[in-house]
Amino acid sequence: MTVSKPLPHDAAPLHVSGTARYVDDIPAPKGTLHLAFGLSPIAKGRITAMDLSDVKAAPGVVMVMTAGDLPFANDVSPSIHDEPLLSDGAVNYVGQPVFLVVATSHLAARKAARLGKVEYDEETPILTIEEALAADSRFEEGPRIYRKGDAEAAIAGSAHVIEGSFELGGQEHFYLEGQAALAVPNEGGDMLVHSSTQHPTEIQHKVADALGVPMHAVRVETRRMGGGFGGKESQGNALAVACAVAARATGKSCRMRYDRDDDMVVTGKRHAFRIAYRAGFDAEGHIQGVSFLHHAICGWAQDLSLPVADRAMLHSDNAYLLPAARIESHRLKTNTQSATAFRGFGGPQGMVGIERVMDHAAHVLGLDPVELRRRNYYEAPAEGGSAPRPAASPRSISEKAKRGEPVQRVDPQDDLTSLGNVRQVSSPPPVRPVPQGGNTTPYGMEVTDFELHGMTEALLESSDYAARKAAIEKWNAGNRVIKKGIAFSPVKFGISFTLTHLNQAGALVHVYQDGSVHLNHGGTEMGQGLFQKVAQVAASRFGIPPEMIRITATDTAKVPNTSATAASSGSDLNGMAVKAACDTIRDRMAEFLAERHQAEAGSVRFADGHVEVGEARYSFAEAAALAYQGRVSLSATGFYKTPKIEWDRIKGHGRPFFYFAYGAAVTEVAVDTLTGENRILRADILHDAGASLNPALDIGQVEGGYVQGAGWLTTEELVWDDKGRLRTHAPSTYKIPACSDRPDVFNVALWDAENREDTIYRSKAVGEPPFMLGISAWLALSNAVAACGNGYPALNAPATAEEVWKAIRRVRDGI
Ligand code: MTE
Ligand code: MOS
Repeated sequence: MTVSKPLPHDAAPLHVSGTARYVDDIPAPKGTLHLAFGLSPIAKGRITAMDLSDVKAAPGVVMVMTAGDLPFANDVSPSIHDEPLLSDGAVNYVGQPVFLVVATSHLAARKAARLGKVEYDEETPILTIEEALAADSRFEEGPRIYRKGDAEAAIAGSAHVIEGSFELGGQEHFYLEGQAALAVPNEGGDMLVHSSTQHPTEIQHKVADALGVPMHAVRVETRRMGGGFGGKESQGNALAVACAVAARATGKSCRMRYDRDDDMVVTGKRHAFRIAYRAGFDAEGHIQGVSFLHHAICGWAQDLSLPVADRAMLHSDNAYLLPAARIESHRLKTNTQSATAFRGFGGPQGMVGIERVMDHAAHVLGLDPVELRRRNYYEAPAEGGSAPRPAASPRSISEKAKRGEPVQRVDPQDDLTSLGNVRQVSSPPPVRPVPQGGNTTPYGMEVTDFELHGMTEALLESSDYAARKAAIEKWNAGNRVIKKGIAFSPVKFGISFTLTHLNQAGALVHVYQDGSVHLNHGGTEMGQGLFQKVAQVAASRFGIPPEMIRITATDTAKVPNTSATAASSGSDLNGMAVKAACDTIRDRMAEFLAERHQAEAGSVRFADGHVEVGEARYSFAEAAALAYQGRVSLSATGFYKTPKIEWDRIKGHGRPFFYFAYGAAVTEVAVDTLTGENRILRADILHDAGASLNPALDIGQVEGGYVQGAGWLTTEELVWDDKGRLRTHAPSTYKIPACSDRPDVFNVALWDAENREDTIYRSKAVGEPPFMLGISAWLALSNAVAACGNGYPALNAPATAEEVWKAIRRVRDGI
């Protein structure tokens, strides 16, 4: 079956030969105009005067627009209409679009945009958490609080209490393809928009509002993005709307792309958090209660900040059964870029909170950090319990690894076929009695699919954790300058949009009379391999080779009312919708052929590119031609909605997630204690992608996610000055991991277990969860720093070389 094969990404040859077409590569009609924004140089104030005569007079300029020139809605917000396309008089951050230049070339538009003379009545911006709290500048009245039991009482009654607070920086998406859009005006006022977006339906919606037309007058097409990472869920709205408005005004096609500096200055990033914690443990390291205080810096507009901050709360338990918990979350409004979705969508921030608590507690209690973690894990589900595991998949990790060439594995001599069973080999049994209230999260969801006991055991073994930890201790005892560190961290990530109605998807499938198949669904391709995976699903349903499936651009005219490709749910949702559409056509073909051969429809087989009915055997193409001649409809839509979920975000109670995806990582680092410079020596990962739809693509997601997560927590530092200007707005000052920063030894394997819930071929979502495996790199740095003295390192994030050096001074010299 095509599903589960490690086939290459459908566009891989195009990617590597430079022929994959991105929005800015689309050949545009003659006379296409180019757009650029004039940006606010101040963080907060009101416009008092605007002289744009130099802009208008600049070479190549065709038109200049301000808020007053916009015919209808001046809004590009994905949530509460608080984000004007062009400033309505107030400016709220350095980089806010104030006016729009339409010119004959990209360069002409950019040059002219700098010539605006805009005067402002400047006000004092709100830039820090303290300033926001003092001004009570926030997006929801008061904090949101989730509770399980009485955390304060549980902590107060504990043998050991730890507390602390740390800073957790934001992150620039740094998608390789910047934001881009192209609008082509069609007859009768219709508009065709090409957009580099994870959310074509939202683009359609915002463009329709801006043009004052119904959604049916706007068609949005997205073939692919050169990366999105959450940064193209809402941040493409401004460019698409600007292009559409300008195209309407000029009658010409209009295109826009931000150059890298503008992209970094204008668009939102990951939310920075401050997390304060207090936790109580007993002498054996069992957590009794924990209390978290989250301060999320949301920037100037609401965007997706509320669900992001909610998801941070929802991941404050990570893999641990917390007998009592209190999580308080403040969503602060500041005069900075509007923070937005970024891989993990707040989950990583919440998870770093509890991993910090575990790290700190292990240090204080003098326990092995892995042991402490395991003692606090959720209970493994009783086999045959409420969510029984389906029959074990025959595919072993080693088989997957072999077929997914990129996998670098542990010693090939090992009998890896048994690795999938290691979960049965019980580790020192979790000593802990199930606390009252059962195996439930702080938000009242029962955890019925916990995989981490077995995964942890298998990973500790394959990574040789115990021996390497001992070797590192020995190394550290004998080396003064270079210290090493090692750390383990688990991931439990909830899959589903927490806004329940978004968990739906549609598909449109055509079978042509030559047997070739045209495939459409609501998901978008951003490099993650969604289109390839879904094509493999379609090929498997029809029993045909994937070459017979044509993957086509996402198009709002083909599949309507789609959700963003986000929350890692792309293949779960669209895979199921496509399966439904394929099965409708397949059933029609089967029924028709069965009647022709006086057989049962159920006995018709689709496999190996053929259709078998009774004694007859047709190629799929022959079967399609016969069905066409028999006047059978060979086109169908499919629809899917995720079952079982319900969630009340105000109460903080329910089942927001259909299931959890799991992962575990061990990272080893080396630190130069004279400079704080450091690097990752080795990373071992075991990740749960369920019964993988495509192990090669999934391993790629795990590798990329880990490196991106490690980058967030180590080298990627965003710096704003005291005027609210982003000083790190180019790769010269903002340091994403380079190829040479990946771990020297990088062992990635997939945990071989089918999803206990009924997902597409029992696979699991894999886009975001591995990002959080990067937390182990941060913890490994903490471990290395701890080897320099007696104090707890209390690292902030990102743990840049400077931060590591400061922490070394704290633990070694007490300063
Ligand atoms: N992988 C690549 N190569 N490029 C991306 O932009 N985005 C991530 C993840 N993996 C991304 C990626 C994010 S934020 C999400 S939500 C998922 O992919 C979305 O795709 P999926 O739902 O199909 O997994
Ligand atoms: Mo991903 S942050 O859900 O786009």
